[in-house]
Amino acid sequence: LNHNVERDRKFIVDTLIKGLKRLEYRGYDSAGIAIDGDDKQAEDVNNITIIRSRGKVQTLEDKAHQAMVATRLGSPLLVGIRTDDAADAPDAIPILLSDPKKSKEPVTSDRFMRRTKSWEHLDTHEPVEYFLASDASAVVEHTRRVIFLEDNDVVNISGGHLSLHHLKTAGTNPSNMARSRNVQTLDMKIQQIMKGAFSHFMQKEIFEQPESVVNTMRGRVRFEDKMVKLGGLVDHIGDIKRCRRLLFVACGTSYNSAIATRQFIEEMTELPVIVDIASDFLDRRCPIFRDDVCFFISQSGETADTLKALRYCKSKGALTVGITNTVGSSISRETSCGVHINAGPEIGVASTKAYTSQILTLLMFGLMMAEDSKQKESRRLAVLKDLSRLPELIQKTLDLSESIKEMVQKYMTSKNMLLLGRGYAFANCLEGALKIKELTYMHAEGILAGELKHGPLALIDNTMPVVMVINDDDSVTKSHNALEQVVARGGLPLVICPDTLDIKVQKGTVKLDFLHIPKTVDCLQSVISVIPLQLLAYHLATLKGHDVDCPRNLAKSVTVE
Ligand code: G6P
Repeated sequence: LNHNVERDRKFIVDTLIKGLKRLEYRGYDSAGIAIDGDDKQAEDVNNITIIRSRGKVQTLEDKAHQAMVATRLGSPLLVGIRTDDAADAPDAIPILLSDPKKSKEPVTSDRFMRRTKSWEHLDTHEPVEYFLASDASAVVEHTRRVIFLEDNDVVNISGGHLSLHHLKTAGTNPSNMARSRNVQTLDMKIQQIMKGAFSHFMQKEIFEQPESVVNTMRGRVRFEDKMVKLGGLVDHIGDIKRCRRLLFVACGTSYNSAIATRQFIEEMTELPVIVDIASDFLDRRCPIFRDDVCFFISQSGETADTLKALRYCKSKGALTVGITNTVGSSISRETSCGVHINAGPEIGVASTKAYTSQILTLLMFGLMMAEDSKQKESRRLAVLKDLSRLPELIQKTLDLSESIKEMVQKYMTSKNMLLLGRGYAFANCLEGALKIKELTYMHAEGILAGELKHGPLALIDNTMPVVMVINDDDSVTKSHNALEQVVARGGLPLVICPDTLDIKVQKGTVKLDFLHIPKTVDCLQSVISVIPLQLLAYHLATLKGHDVDCPRNLAKSVTVE
């Protein structure tokens, strides 16, 4: 480093900070870096310089650049950001492991390895440059070749050599354990995790949906021979068909995708489908049987409650299926089989394109399950036909963005919003309400229109903002009745419905707002009608000046129960 210490030091610090910025989307409250070499202006433990701060990585960057003045910094040691509520920056990662006997002294990797006896040696890799990170986004601009570590794995990088070890713990069954950790090549490009011309990741991700749905279907929906093949499930489809019931377990938006597709999966499989929120499923310790098939839907594949529910079902002997968007994630690794939704990296905390891809994946599963049924053939073909039109219909719906931007002005001072719908329209009422809560910080509630008379009707008057999602399917008459009831109580709903419907209310003098969207087959309509709701939440939140990519108090991956 002597030839150009200044330049090398800047390169190291910049690389670390950039990596942290790429991880920032996951939602953290403090960040830090540790570098060998002392620094009089920064924290210094045994010649290790630690720089850390609360808040955005930008604050850390400013602090690091100040600290770099007139210092001697060498190679990076450890870098991390902390997820919980660290009250003060001194608690933030990096925390160096110290030797309990000789306090303050950091434990070197060699000493740590020597002290702990029960190691299983796994692999050793050639000397090259290695990066360690908790998420591939942090390193993808340097390499796409990654090794995913399992719980209790330890890597030792010394002199450029990487060796992998596994700590044998009680309960580990050595025969179940893979003896090596393969190097995998990620199909991720740096452009996918950059905003490009968009103002926010969320906006980019909403507008990416015409392509992300194609990526979800690519190689799976075979339009020529009218078949669906989910490669990750083919070996298990026989077992799945023989099961007693299907369970879908998830949190947040992923849970809503299960609600959106439940009816179609019940229709195609003729099996009872149970949909559960992971935390509640765990609280109840829901009875699980060996002939159950349990699906775990998770964009990140790391949500603690969903992961814990998966481990619980596995312990009961059920077949487990992962529906995730993140290759190498814990849920994708620990399930018996599964499907990657291939929506591409989702950075905005509020999920958008992952939702539509989750819906599509679950619908494809339903289609695959009904492939042998003559009775369901015409239905299957009708859905397949509309799958081919989906990108075009999404594109058309996105064109509503500017009019939605104008429309949201009237909600600027509202404190509440109710979203009503039934049948296939209900899941989007939940999802729309979730987007509005997350981003605008308004109270919003998704209500099943069939429940209107059992309470929510009492909330309706001419000051309560109401959004009604009405589909042009079997539910239309009953949805129209609900609309009449709302209007009769002075409500002035915004109606989101297919352009094939000409909705009028008896109180003809009342002027309702409409957002007309393209019509598609009932089970696919959610993929279209969620888009105006995503845009509504996005525009309202940006108008209010909120940071839509990092809403207050929320994280992208919730890795604690
Ligand atoms: C967090 C995110 C949500 C997401 C939920 C479940 O709350 O902010 O957008 O829907 O976790 O995440 P998962 O990764 O399991 O789909």
